[in-house]
Amino acid sequence: MYTWSMSRQVFITGVSSGIGLGLARECARRGDRVFALGRNPPPSTLPRLSFEACDLARLDTLPASLDRLLAGITRVDLAILNAGVLGRIADLGECSLEELKAIMEVNLWANKAVTDALLSGGREVVQVVAISSGAAVSGARGWNGYALSKAALNMLMRLYAAERPATHFSAFAPGLVDTAMQDKVRALPEDPRFPTVDRLKQAAGTPDMPDPDAAAPRLLDAMDRLRDRKSGDFHDIRSMD
Ligand SMILES: NC(=O)c1ccc[n+]([C@@H]2O[C@H](COP(=O)([O-])OP(=O)(O)OC[C@H]3O[C@@H](n4cnc5c(N)ncnc54)[C@H](OP(=O)(O)O)[C@@H]3O)[C@@H](O)[C@H]2O)c1
Repeated sequence: MYTWSMSRQVFITGVSSGIGLGLARECARRGDRVFALGRNPPPSTLPRLSFEACDLARLDTLPASLDRLLAGITRVDLAILNAGVLGRIADLGECSLEELKAIMEVNLWANKAVTDALLSGGREVVQVVAISSGAAVSGARGWNGYALSKAALNMLMRLYAAERPATHFSAFAPGLVDTAMQDKVRALPEDPRFPTVDRLKQAAGTPDMPDPDAAAPRLLDAMDRLRDRKSGDFHDIRSMD
């Protein structure tokens, strides 16, 4: 099992709930210093957490928010681009360009803006992990803008890896985790067009869908192992040794 040898400086987006909150709690437990950006703070205080409120869809204000959060910080050991939105499960043909663009804004373009701001001013960034999804590669019916945004996020990491060899980049699918996003999927009515929705409903309450606090230690350990793999690649925790 991996053990942290020293406290690290970890940056995370979206820590108000779900995977981001679980990761922030686990980092705090390990003694790390956490810098978090998101619309809302964690529901309870965490030690060594610095939080800056920022709607990631506001690409005009995002760089200044990140600069305030990381003022004077010259090294980030791990940056986790976690915040994301699902949109609705529907056929692509039923989705307006406006709603697809809104998903892209948070799941893709905000992550470009965050990465640029993180890497600015000569700051050393050891590792960037973008939280992707199996939907990035599955082409499962119904995942429309979400799947497009995560596929593009995978390529975003690959492109930065080619440009910035001093930083290690990965796109990383965390597997199923029981969060508000899964609550949204569970609340959907039956629809034979979207069989993956049924599969997710069936996984709820089983070991295949841990809660965020249970998932976080495994996710952080897997992120550490990503650094032994090629920068820019996509990995799914479900197929990592
Ligand atoms: N849960 C799963 O099974 C699963 C599987 C594969 C991938 N993922 C990915 O894991 C990541 C986390 O999702 P989750 O399942 O933990 O869902 P979640 O509980 O809904 O968490 C999403 C987080 O993103 C933040 N966020 C959303 N829009 C934002 C915005 N405009 N500005 C700032 N923050 C924003 C939310 O904060 P506020 O709403 O407070 O702003 C929240 O903290 C996502 O990228 C998701 O695609 C999840």
